[in-house]
Amino acid sequence: MRTVHTRAELTAARDSRTGTVAVVMTMGALHEGHAALLRAARERADQLVVTIFVNPLQFGPNEDFDRYPRTLDADLEVCRAAGVDLVFAPSAAEMYPAGQPMVRVDPGRLGADLEGGSRPGFFHGVLTVVLKLLNLVRPDLAFFGEKDYQQLTLVRRMARDLDLPVEVVGVPTVREPDGLALSSRNRYLSEAERRTASGLSAALLAGVAAAERGDDGSGVLAAAHRAFAATAPDARLDYLVLTDPDLEPGPTSGPGRLLVAAWVGRTRLIDNMPIRLADGEPLAP
Ligand code: PAF
Repeated sequence: MRTVHTRAELTAARDSRTGTVAVVMTMGALHEGHAALLRAARERADQLVVTIFVNPLQFGPNEDFDRYPRTLDADLEVCRAAGVDLVFAPSAAEMYPAGQPMVRVDPGRLGADLEGGSRPGFFHGVLTVVLKLLNLVRPDLAFFGEKDYQQLTLVRRMARDLDLPVEVVGVPTVREPDGLALSSRNRYLSEAERRTASGLSAALLAGVAAAERGDDGSGVLAAAHRAFAATAPDARLDYLVLTDPDLEPGPTSGPGRLLVAAWVGRTRLIDNMPIRLADGEPLAP
């Protein structure tokens, strides 16, 4: 495995490679969720590239950019064990040599909703760095976790709307035994907060169970809210919504997505699950 820190090194490595190239973009602090992304990418790629970059553009002024965990040595070990070929770990000056970019990707209406509603400018920052990294790495495949479902949806949308020559692949969320979705931010949680944090997945599971019983959208949301209040009374709910799989407002039947965001202490966590509302047809077992 090679680790490079500059665009020049990346370009040289890129120009000497052959076969199918996959990229997994990360901000480091790699965990088992990232390892699942690496395994999925490894299966389909001849060359697997990982990027590690804590992107300042996607953090608001009062967010956790400064305290975001930076664990490069441990991350490189995870990459080595997963059979990664090339790691690109640039500095901010290398990524943004002229300072903050004036031109950024506009995520459109969807970028202002949900995560974008609570974190203004977040998806401008995410899509701008994703597009830059796609241009630098030039992969055939790019793997993103379903844990950040709105990010995955917007990256797919950007690839489609801007004709990017890349296949965007989503990988299911990896969870702790009690259901908590793995996230680099889980390491901020105290023991008590860690217990509260399981309220997010408990809410989603209650919604999924209500849908399986045949409840309609409002029944699903009511069940999810009840479970959240019972499991995570100390958490502050940001949103708990039911959308269609493309994040358009609530479906009345068929496939949908249930998404939640909440503050547990000073830590903001998000999670989501696929859901299927009864549509008159028997539900799959
Ligand atoms: O999901 C993340 O870790 C980041 O948003 C990403 C895609 C690496 C862009 O900085």
